[in-house]
Amino acid sequence: MIEQNTDIIFNKKVASGTFLMGLKSSEIVAEARPGQFVMIRLRLGTDPLLRRPFSICGTRGDDLFLILYKVVGKGTVIMSSAGKGEKLSVLGPLGRGFKLPEPGRKSLFVAGGIGVAPLVFLAQELKNNLVFIAGYRSSNEMIPMDQVGLGRTDISIATDDGTAGRPGLVTELLESHLAGPADDHPKIFACGPLPMLKLVASLAIERDIYCQVSLEANMACGLGACLGCAVGASKDGDRTYYHVCQDGPVFDVHALDWESL
Ligand SMILES: Cc1cc2nc3c(=O)[nH]c(=O)nc-3n(C[C@H](O)[C@H](O)[C@H](O)COP(=O)(O)OP(=O)(O)OC[C@H]3O[C@@H](n4cnc5c(N)ncnc54)[C@H](O)[C@@H]3O)c2cc1C
Ligand code: FES
Repeated sequence: MIEQNTDIIFNKKVASGTFLMGLKSSEIVAEARPGQFVMIRLRLGTDPLLRRPFSICGTRGDDLFLILYKVVGKGTVIMSSAGKGEKLSVLGPLGRGFKLPEPGRKSLFVAGGIGVAPLVFLAQELKNNLVFIAGYRSSNEMIPMDQVGLGRTDISIATDDGTAGRPGLVTELLESHLAGPADDHPKIFACGPLPMLKLVASLAIERDIYCQVSLEANMACGLGACLGCAVGASKDGDRTYYHVCQDGPVFDVHALDWESL
């Protein structure tokens, strides 16, 4: 794990309320794995006091990593106004990322909104044999995949308001991709809001499909020290809870107690 003042190389708006930031650190790039995250301090003073967690959305070359983020509150408002030449203190890479599928195995990525971020990094690593489906509330929130380095990826879109792609939820799109025989089902990798992940998990468990999900939780430390990110573990295992920051954020769907989430 590295703690470093990193240079902002760019910070640009890519969709409604959504920014892509490039930060320079050859050390973090060398260690980063898809699904891992960093904790970013957004101001030198005490407001906001806590670092904020963000998935690593990919790397470029050997010294640039990307953060794709949505502006939702005080920290991300500050982040969106930061510019090239400024520095941000970054701690990471943290957590356990995705277990990569064996080569040749088909993968299905399911993203809800800003949940695209860690899956972009995973797609960058896998390169082929993957189908990406992403759901947004509306077309103005769609992430332009060429801007995050996935211009040629096969991607299907669903929007809640029907302004792009298939009208409806991304989980409905997912069901249409799972219509074939069980033997042909791809491995699922998902990230998005909790209600979406619950639906993805129940579909995967019901149909016995291998599935990993990247969870979000409120995180104060990111290091396993505060218990702020605890989530219930499946009753079949030997744990009662997991720290999302250390045991996750990526989990096999069978590891979690979905009813308590
Ligand atoms: C492992 C991990 C990876 C993440 N990756 C990304 C990413 O790649 N891109 C991205 O945009 N965001 C990501 N998030 C969420 C991001 O950390 C929050 O959006 C950010 O901390 C909000 O900070 P803020 O100061 O702007 O908002 P705050 O003022 O802290 O909160 C504003 C609003 O956002 C809600 N909120 C805050 N944190 C979260 C959260 N973790 N999940 C859901 N709602 C939250 C609050 O409840 C509140 O309603 C990730 C979170 C985790 C735990
Ligand atoms: S964020 Fe503190 S224990 Fe996970």
